[in-house]
Amino acid sequence: MPKITVSLLAADFFCLERSVAIAEEGGADFLHMDVMDGVFVPNISFGVPVVSSLSKKTKLPLDTHIMAVAADRQVESLAAPGTDCITVHQEAVRHLERTLSFIRSFGIKSGVALNPATRPESIEYVLDSVDRVLVMSVNPGYSGQRFIPSALEKIRRLAALRDQTGSSFEISVDGGVDAQNVREVFDAGADIVVVGSAIYSVKDPLAALLKIREIANAST
Ligand code: DX5
Ligand code: ZN
Repeated sequence: MPKITVSLLAADFFCLERSVAIAEEGGADFLHMDVMDGVFVPNISFGVPVVSSLSKKTKLPLDTHIMAVAADRQVESLAAPGTDCITVHQEAVRHLERTLSFIRSFGIKSGVALNPATRPESIEYVLDSVDRVLVMSVNPGYSGQRFIPSALEKIRRLAALRDQTGSSFEISVDGGVDAQNVREVFDAGADIVVVGSAIYSVKDPLAALLKIREIANAST
């Protein structure tokens, strides 16, 4: 079953409660929380206090994406109850296997994100420790960017790598996913898509989410 994780980064932060309610009502599977440090990426979004408040209010599991050089130091504080997965970047973490195992030690899934220029083979040696691979289909840091088409080939390669190695990680795709390309993304082999501005930057966010859900369900 294709899954949708809704990124709050594109939401109006003055109306977070409403934005979360739309994700819940529209049948999102997770809430995607983009935590940034202004160093690994040139932007700062929100951090532990916001994630912690939201985790207490929403019934959706959190899917937390850390874009920070000191990701290890944030894992413990971000492992709030109700968190399904914490994802760190391959390019940001020095001892990736150690960090992924540390995430799992809190009883939650571990994820690794790959920037558009990072090869899938770079995570071959940590496949035993990873539950989810997040394919960045934009350069991380901002919502509202255009989907980079080479991500489709990366999804296919990761799916092939998963078969070859007999591993079972999920493939999630983050950046520029919308009603026009979501089918192609799932058909390439994605299990999960992250959707931000295609929902929160349009007039009727709930209708937009329901539409994406309908297309996702119809994909192979
Ligand atoms: C970008 C973030 C994404 C972003 C997705 O760095 O990781 O999760 O919010 O937003 P859209 O769907 O607008 O590309
Ligand atoms: Zn993200």
